[in-house]
Amino acid sequence: MYLSKEEEALLNGERGEAKAKALKALIEIGEALGAERLVNVEWVHISGISYKNIGDSGLKFIKELVEYGAFFSVRTTLNPAGMDLNRWQEMGIPEAFAYKQLEVTRALISMGAEPTFSCVPYLLGSVKEGSQVAWGESNAVLYANSVLGALTNREASVLTLLEAITGKAPLIGLRLREFRKPTVLVEFDSRVLREVSKGNYPYSLLGYCLGKVVERGVPYLRGFKIPKRELKNFLAGLGASSSIGLIIIEGLSPDAKYLGSEDLRGLDKVSLSSGEVEECKEEFYNALSEVDAVVLGCPHLSEEELREILEVLKYAKRRPSDRLILFTSKPIGRNLKRKLESLRGVGAELYFDTCMVVCPLRYMNIRSVATDSAKAAYYLSSQGVKVLLLPRRRLLGI
Ligand code: F3S
Repeated sequence: MYLSKEEEALLNGERGEAKAKALKALIEIGEALGAERLVNVEWVHISGISYKNIGDSGLKFIKELVEYGAFFSVRTTLNPAGMDLNRWQEMGIPEAFAYKQLEVTRALISMGAEPTFSCVPYLLGSVKEGSQVAWGESNAVLYANSVLGALTNREASVLTLLEAITGKAPLIGLRLREFRKPTVLVEFDSRVLREVSKGNYPYSLLGYCLGKVVERGVPYLRGFKIPKRELKNFLAGLGASSSIGLIIIEGLSPDAKYLGSEDLRGLDKVSLSSGEVEECKEEFYNALSEVDAVVLGCPHLSEEELREILEVLKYAKRRPSDRLILFTSKPIGRNLKRKLESLRGVGAELYFDTCMVVCPLRYMNIRSVATDSAKAAYYLSSQGVKVLLLPRRRLLGI
């Protein structure tokens, strides 16, 4: 691999042993993936920090980095952890789990990470079009590439640790313009679009269904209008069912301006019918008359969504005994502090720092849920939780 003078100096230990070791590992991974050089990244987002997912071996690895004196050299944010870091006792999380989780988060913060614990980093700061970032959460990667026009691959969480320490990433895949060209042309049929705009399907289901059918590459989506606030839900569904890291939405994605008519000529065409969307919906159909909880916030709820939910809950026809759990992050909830306190009055629970997928729901006595997130539905089903996927307005009783 070609190395700049600065990278050679790093590798020779001029900026400490930890950086040298991290760079060495990054070069080895980059070479295995076929990268010819590295590129500087401006912002790293680390996923995979829940103790539920990484266990003792992940904790050990992170602690070893701290012992080596590793420190993050660029802006580094964190994905949700396995519990609300302040209110874990209310969640019913046992001490044994909580202390391990706190070890993970403290170690990451001691290396310079911002304690965001959010999977929507794009709502926490701005990213310039064309900038190289290294994000390791599929919905965030899709948003960065497809909506903001930033450049990132779907980074594995170990890789993001090395990237945060060195401020560099292998220059491959979606970091290069030639790999950001569309590979397939996609259209939803008009019935699907009508149903989703009436609120009869969640946008997350459309994303999920698109990912299931297309699986990989760079889809070019034609004639698709989506409200901006729904983009994250749509993209999270897409990321859950595919390895796609970039989708070009006509009239919306910055990458569209780099395309000529020849880039769209001769592409395979996929048309998604209501039959296909219904089939995807069936995957999450359970004949449940009751669920232990309605869970919202995958991806984490935005401030706008929280305001709306609060408003709706004032007149929604919900039984106060029905459990409603909302997930978001502290940076997003910050401006709504007073309002959020009123949630308990309407029978809702709100947790920061975590989500329904990466926290151990069993400690909350939850074995069945209803949600509007196809991503949550997919992962929770695979964890043995019974899931009902419904549009949000139905879940809130409006
Ligand atoms: Fe975020 Fe958890 Fe969903 S990390 S995208 S809320 S699975």
